Amino acid sequence: MLNESYWNNRYIEGNIGWDAGSVTTPIKQYIDQVEDKNLRILIPGAGFGNEAGYIYSLGFVNTFVCEWSEKAVIQFKKNYPSFPDSQIFLKNFFEIEGDFDLIIEQTFFCAIHPSQRELYAKKVFDLLNFGGKMVGLLFDFPFSEKGPPFGGDSQEYLSLFKKYFKINCFEKSYNSIKPREGNEIFFNFEKTNYKLL
Ligand SMILES: C[S@@+](CC[C@H](N)C(=O)[O-])C[C@H]1O[C@@H](n2cnc3c(N)ncnc32)[C@H](O)[C@@H]1O
Repeated sequence: MLNESYWNNRYIEGNIGWDAGSVTTPIKQYIDQVEDKNLRILIPGAGFGNEAGYIYSLGFVNTFVCEWSEKAVIQFKKNYPSFPDSQIFLKNFFEIEGDFDLIIEQTFFCAIHPSQRELYAKKVFDLLNFGGKMVGLLFDFPFSEKGPPFGGDSQEYLSLFKKYFKINCFEKSYNSIKPREGNEIFFNFEKTNYKLL
C-alpha cells in the first residue's frame, strides 16, 4: 500500500531512484522566467526539496511544500535551513487546505495510486486560485500496475485534466534530465474562471 510508511521506508532504505539531486531543467527553465516573486507556490510530494529549495532561493518567499515522509522532511530542512518551517506541510496532500497561484508537479502524480488520479485533479483545482496554474511534468510511458512510478498516455492525461483546466501547453519535454529524456510531457494548465464545475 502506498501509504506514508511505504514512502518513509523508501527514504530510510535509501531506495530513492527518483531523486535528481538538484532542480530539474524543465522546472528550472520555467521558474527562471516567472517574474512575480509574490506568487503563492506549492510543491506537493516535494521529497528532499530540490525544486522547492531552488524556487525559494530565487526569492519566491511564498513557496510551500507538502511531503508526508518525516525522513524526507528532515533531510529537506538540512538541505535548505532557511526555508520556513511554517511553509512545510508534513501531511497527506489530499488533506491540506490553502490557496495557491502555482502548483509545481515533479514526480508526485506518478507516485500516487492511479485510482487517485481523479481526486488529484480535483484537489489541485480546489487548491488553486482562479488564474492559477499547475505546471510540471508527467511521465509518458505505458501504464503498468508495477509502479510507482505509474505511467500513462497523453489521451488519458488530457481527458482527466481538461475537465478542470485550460491547457496552455502539453508537449513532449525537450529539456528533460538525461535519465528521463523522451519519457516526459511538459504541461502548463490554468484554472480559469469561466469553467466552473
Ligand atoms: C517519487 S517521490 C518524488 C519526490 C520529489 N518530487 C522528487 O522529485 O524528488 C514521491 C514523493 O511524494 C510523497 N508522497 C506520496 N504520496 C503523498 C501524499 N498523499 N501526501 C504527501 N506526500 C506524498 C512521497 O513521500 C515521496 O516523497
